[in-house]
Amino acid sequence: MTDLPRFDLGAALPAPEPLPEMLARLAVRRSAPAQALVEPGPSEAQLELILTLGARSPDHGKLTPWRFVVLGRQTRLRIAERLAALAVVKELPAKATAVLAKLTAAPVTVLVVSIARPASKPEWEQVLSAGAVCMNIEHAASALGFASSWITDWYSYDPEAAALFGVTTDEKVAGFIHIGMAAEPLLERERPDIAALTTRLP
Ligand SMILES: Cc1cc2nc3c(=O)[nH]c(=O)nc-3n(C[C@H](O)[C@H](O)[C@H](O)COP(=O)(O)O)c2cc1C
Repeated sequence: MTDLPRFDLGAALPAPEPLPEMLARLAVRRSAPAQALVEPGPSEAQLELILTLGARSPDHGKLTPWRFVVLGRQTRLRIAERLAALAVVKELPAKATAVLAKLTAAPVTVLVVSIARPASKPEWEQVLSAGAVCMNIEHAASALGFASSWITDWYSYDPEAAALFGVTTDEKVAGFIHIGMAAEPLLERERPDIAALTTRLP
C-alpha cells in the first residue's frame, strides 16, 4: 500500500475564525423579484468590485470560461422592444412578453455568458464555473447591501433572441444578474430539508 502523505497536525494549526456578519448575511440570503429592483443600483466602482469578486470563482484549468456584458437600462429597454416583436413573430404565449418586465426593471444588469473553451477540462465543469460566477456576483452585490435576481427566461435559450445581447451560437447564457435595491421586503420561502438530501459516510 502506498504511504499516505503525513501532515504535522500539531498545536500550531490556526483555529477556524468564523465571520459572524458573513454567516448572518448568508443565513438570510434571498433573491429579489427582478421587477421589484429599484434605484439606487451599484456605482461604477461598486460594479467593478462586484465583477472582480464574482470572477474570484473556482475555475478548473484556469480557463476563464465566461465573460460579462454590463447592460444599462437603456440597452435593455431597446432589446426588450425587439424581443417583444420576436415573441409575436414566433407566436410565443403572452407570458413571453410579460416576463420582459423582469429584464428592464433593475438599475444594473450583468449578463454572464458561459464560453466552453476547447480544453482538456470537461465542458460540464466550465459551465459549473460560470454558475459559480453568477452566485458570487450575487454574494458580492449582497455584501455591498444590494439585492439581486438571477434570471434566464426564454430569450436566453432562443439563439435569435440571445444574439440581440451579443451571445454567439458557441456560447450560452449563464444568467442575467439584475442588481438594485428591493422595493419590497423579501419574503422567506421554504428551504430544502438538508438531512433528507445528505448522505453521511464515516
Ligand atoms: C440558472 C437559473 C436561472 C433562473 N432563471 C429564472 C427565471 O428565468 N425566472 C425566475 O423567475 N427565476 C429564475 N431563477 C430563480 C431565481 O433566481 C431564484 O433563485 C428563485 O426565485 C429562488 O429564490 P432564492 O434565490 O431566494 O432561493 C433562476 C435560477 C437559476 C439558478
